[in-house]
Amino acid sequence: MFQTLEPLPPDAIIGIMALFRQDEDPRKVDLSVGVYQDENGNTPVLECVRQAEQRVLQAQKTKSYVGIAGNADFNQGMEAMLFGADHPVRKAGRVASVQTPGGSGGLSVAAHTIVRAQPDARVWLSDPSWPNHLPLLRLAGLQLEQYPYYDYENHGIDFDAMMATFDELRAGDLVLLHGCCHNPCGADLSHHQWEALAALFEARGIVPFLDLAYQGLAEGLEEDAYGVRVMAERLDEVVVVASCSKNLGLYRERVGMASIVSKDAEQARAAQSNLGNVARGIYSMPPDHGAAITACVLQDDELRALWINELGQMRERLNDLRRLLVDKLEQRNAPRDYSFIANERGMFSFLGISREQVIRLREEFHVYMVESSRINVAGINQSNVDYVADAIVAVL
Ligand code: LMR
Repeated sequence: MFQTLEPLPPDAIIGIMALFRQDEDPRKVDLSVGVYQDENGNTPVLECVRQAEQRVLQAQKTKSYVGIAGNADFNQGMEAMLFGADHPVRKAGRVASVQTPGGSGGLSVAAHTIVRAQPDARVWLSDPSWPNHLPLLRLAGLQLEQYPYYDYENHGIDFDAMMATFDELRAGDLVLLHGCCHNPCGADLSHHQWEALAALFEARGIVPFLDLAYQGLAEGLEEDAYGVRVMAERLDEVVVVASCSKNLGLYRERVGMASIVSKDAEQARAAQSNLGNVARGIYSMPPDHGAAITACVLQDDELRALWINELGQMRERLNDLRRLLVDKLEQRNAPRDYSFIANERGMFSFLGISREQVIRLREEFHVYMVESSRINVAGINQSNVDYVADAIVAVL
């Protein structure tokens, strides 16, 4: 039976991560996978997580299942963080949520629920988007289309082209938008643009499908939820998926959530039972540990304050590194203007170089990035930034 299967090419991101691990050159630099690194190149366990983990382990009395929707405190805390504690959709009982194994688990549960509700639903993805969006959503049976997003020439969002595309969509089409820290380009929508999109979606019956994998890493926890809140305020239906991999550094614990905002509380009850039923059909029960830690951090004032501080440090470091790299490239008279990197947000930006140049950086200089030339700025530090800037200028 399995003779029909052929080996597949390595994953666009995880494949590069594997190559990096094999490389024994001491100069090697990892700008590939979207994982935060500190000044020493480590991905630390946050102090708030360490403390919450101790409390969770001490209080734990059983390893029995948590339940299909997962940890209720986690779901409540996450909803409050995404929508705002007093958002009208929460007060009206219009939000249904399930805790999921990571943001990817959330995308999958949301996608299967969409297919169940509307088997011919089309989801529009930004060009470009996270390389795993397409295979993951297609596996759930969704039809996928692309809308223009990043203008590689001008290093910004091509908002007019985007709006013109959306103006042609069918009612009931879904548009997947990155809530903040766009992956892979780092170019985010302004408040004004979010509002214009919400108005257009309302007029055309388009459903926003919002992916928030980096809340808190662009401008701040509240600021980064602007798009979710505007959409939820204006529209009857919104799909939201969130991840705690990056903002709490809980990558391997797989912590995420899928939420559906429905027209009214009755519809929300139907959405809740279907989200749970879909989860049951895919993996049955969510993992406990990471969500229990997150719930503990969100509920405890002291741990929450500690987290906000640690998250702020990560965010500021990312923004400082953006500026540092731009300065270093300018000092070397790089033949291109890279100042846009300092204006983008989150972990990623495009260098805008060819695949051949990316491979040369990897093979000759041991500087690793995704072949689209996406870099994770968190891989830069004071000790490697000159080396990285020299290498980039050498291949330009
Ligand atoms: C990335 O884009 O590098 C991260 O989101 C990690 C992943 O799973 O692809």
